[in-house]
Amino acid sequence: MNTISQKLILPLSILLFIYLPVISYSQKEVNLVATNLTVSEGFKNPVGFYDASPTFSWKLPPEVKSQTAYSIIAASSPKLLPDNPDIWKSDKINSDKSTFVDYKGPKLVSRQKVYWQIKFWDEKNQPSKWSLTANFELGLLKNSDWKAKWTGLDTAKDSIKGVRNFLMHRPQYLRKNFELSTDIKSARLYITAKGVFDVYLNGKNVSNDVLSPGWTPYNKRIETLTYDVTELVTAGKNILAVELASGWHSGRISRGKSVYNNFASPKILCQLEITLKDGSKKIIVSDESWKGTTNGPRRFASLYDGEVYDANLEIKGWTKATFDASTWETTQNAAISDSVNLRPKRHETVKTTEVLEDVEIVSTTKSSVVFNMKQNMLGVTKVKVPMKKGDTLTIRFSEMLLSDGTFYTENYRSAKSTDYYISAKNGVIEWSPKFTFHGFQFVELSGYDKSVEPTTNWIKGMVQHSNIKKIGSFTSSHEKLNQLQSNITWGLRDNLLDVPTDCPQRDERLGWTGDAQVISPTAMFNFNTHAFWTAWLQSMRETQSEHSDGLVPFIIPDVLQNNKASSGWGDAAVIIPWDIYNITGDKKVLEENYEMAKKWVGYYESKSQNFIPTIHSFADWLQPYPEKTGKIGNRGDTPRLFVNMAYFAHSSHLVSKIASVLGKTDDEKKYKDLYKNIASAFEKNFFDINGKFKNKKQTQTSYLLAIYFDLLKPETKIKAQQHLLQEIKKADYHLGTGFLGTPILPKVLDNMGEIDLMYKILFKETYPSWFYSINQGATTMWERWNSFSKEDGYNPQSMNSLNHYAYGAVGQWMYERIAGLSSLEPGYKKIKIAPIPNTQFINMASASLDTPYGKASSSWKIENNNFYLNTVIPANTTAEIHIPYNTIDSLLENGNTFKENSNLKIINIEKNAIKIMAQPGSYNFHTKTQ
Ligand code: BGC
Repeated sequence: MNTISQKLILPLSILLFIYLPVISYSQKEVNLVATNLTVSEGFKNPVGFYDASPTFSWKLPPEVKSQTAYSIIAASSPKLLPDNPDIWKSDKINSDKSTFVDYKGPKLVSRQKVYWQIKFWDEKNQPSKWSLTANFELGLLKNSDWKAKWTGLDTAKDSIKGVRNFLMHRPQYLRKNFELSTDIKSARLYITAKGVFDVYLNGKNVSNDVLSPGWTPYNKRIETLTYDVTELVTAGKNILAVELASGWHSGRISRGKSVYNNFASPKILCQLEITLKDGSKKIIVSDESWKGTTNGPRRFASLYDGEVYDANLEIKGWTKATFDASTWETTQNAAISDSVNLRPKRHETVKTTEVLEDVEIVSTTKSSVVFNMKQNMLGVTKVKVPMKKGDTLTIRFSEMLLSDGTFYTENYRSAKSTDYYISAKNGVIEWSPKFTFHGFQFVELSGYDKSVEPTTNWIKGMVQHSNIKKIGSFTSSHEKLNQLQSNITWGLRDNLLDVPTDCPQRDERLGWTGDAQVISPTAMFNFNTHAFWTAWLQSMRETQSEHSDGLVPFIIPDVLQNNKASSGWGDAAVIIPWDIYNITGDKKVLEENYEMAKKWVGYYESKSQNFIPTIHSFADWLQPYPEKTGKIGNRGDTPRLFVNMAYFAHSSHLVSKIASVLGKTDDEKKYKDLYKNIASAFEKNFFDINGKFKNKKQTQTSYLLAIYFDLLKPETKIKAQQHLLQEIKKADYHLGTGFLGTPILPKVLDNMGEIDLMYKILFKETYPSWFYSINQGATTMWERWNSFSKEDGYNPQSMNSLNHYAYGAVGQWMYERIAGLSSLEPGYKKIKIAPIPNTQFINMASASLDTPYGKASSSWKIENNNFYLNTVIPANTTAEIHIPYNTIDSLLENGNTFKENSNLKIINIEKNAIKIMAQPGSYNFHTKTQ
């Protein structure tokens, strides 16, 4: 190189060095990527996915403040990304939306696998790198995708008489051999049952799912499962083997007199689709080539009543290809019908999520032993017990013992909830049932080898429920409040088994709509139940479609079939979608359920005169100290027509709000007018000019409903609030509310500024109160405020479960106001951090939640008149932080005197609060409390 050029190059490269970063600045890729890519209601890389019109969500890294634009690309192979997205490319969309973004590409079809990536632009308009690739693979979306037949044995012909002469089907063992000529590339097993099943491929359990396919209105829709079984299928001989039992479809459900009684023998539907290495395809389907037997060890299986297992009948090797099934029966087959939709399961399957091993022996007799699991739980036990050949181990369950230590099963009512194991050998046996579940804390074993002293390792508690992820936590400085939080979360885990149930133990375990309606917001603070609820809402829509008048039955799926609806219960059709939308920000739930919500309001209308619906109501179910006792007393003292009208107005109001979100302005007005008209008739009917409820018996719930649902003129409302306070005072600051009033109590008192009063009620130790049950040893929420006492044992009423989640609805207020974390705009797009401490009871509380945008938290403590607040606000949101004092002079942020900056701006300073607008980030505040 000559010197001239050398001279030229040097300054040029310096120039370039200085200049290049400048020109590339505005498009500089930030070295960050979006994470947590999910589809629809939060599914990560699902196989057998249900949604052909998915939405996309992602989270921005904490370094980023906000998103100004995004781009999504989708391809049929990861190799095509990011450069050749052959399915869809959204281009750069200027939007801050990072949750539930609609897929707008070409129509997707069954089995299709889609790979996708996302890129975002941050607050400085700098693009991120492409995210890691996520994917989803659709299941079989329509009935015509199925080549298989419903297959199984006719078990009705030799059925067993069960409880109340109910016809019980023997569990079946079904199998099919097949051979493959070459190695395989991939394999998918599509499978479901009319009943519940467990499937093996070449001797290996295909999944650890429990009680699949779960419970839907089987006359309308049955959910199907998809498993990637590529690793389980081989060249040469293969065997598919399925265990099948009645489950909800053909078993005893709902006090033994259900519609499903008519349902025939359980059947499976199964389609194994294999792509071989040479590119050819092979399908193995359930059909007449399958063989089956009922002469297996599982002699009996009922969800309510338990299992009978005779180890002497075990069929060695029946799940292996080498087994000779020539003596097995030929199966019966039926074509699939168009009237029942086969659709991929749209929420998490049931699994064993925890194993309880810290067990205690409570008592032993010569022939029995009682174990305490130390937690009222839902699931089954795994026993490891010494036995003598031919003996029967009996496993009984109970939620609590009577005050004298006696085993108590009366409150299971007709549910036998007992498992039996017949031993085939002398020695230690290990066993767990498969097609039943129990609600219990205590377990009694008898029939074991009496020469051996029982030990605590004989038994383990297998906790089972829909595999919902824990997303929230709440803790405080108060032990009983923490126990209440634990009881709430266990109450949820014990009642979210494929459908939201009232209780897990007695002869119900049904999808009671009222219970679900009150608990769903608290459920969503603690667990990711978004898909769980939307799946159940689909069952609700399907069930409502059977009623031309818009009726929503008491329970979903509707096994009672009594053509009845109740106010406060059927309103789940409106309230739950509205709550889900506000908590997640997902509009789809409103779109999907809008017609159902309108029809429910239409149902009220059609049964009303002068805006008073005359329908049935469970009213303020199980209100304490009812005037009348027994069954009628269960409904409390807030009159039926009052409750009917209040909910008619409330649901109309919510439909108007939903219409507004969906941009349906005519409906918005129509339903708002309806609500106003009902409200004014309601006030005239039930309240005098002094805001007093015109009824001999005053109830807290009558005031709570009228106030919370905004049914009174402002001047009447103020007076009604005073009457409410008087009622609470009369009760010596105890709650006096049942299922409907209890969840509303904290909200109303909070809106009234009566937070200290709410603390006082919440921290009451005597009946009726939340801590009363804790003082009696509760580890879950109870159905009644006095379901059990240490002194008297069980409440004598037979309807008395120790595992009913409804009163746990206070959990929402514990997150929102004790810890101070709530959503101000749908889906936590705007967050409110507003704890209200009350040092008479606690000096610390903390909550965190995995919001759709990322983790948010609020933790405070008070020490020596100093208040400390730590909070995390996730990227792409903003927050209002309310410091609950007006001590601006002593306010420190991150240890320094508080100064406004680009992240923190004062909104205003009020008598009891400093309100600050915050950008994403982690903040800690400190101020004097006086
Ligand atoms: C259930 C409830 C349900 C109620 C309605 C009970 O048997 O367990 O929780 O909401 O009936 O009355």
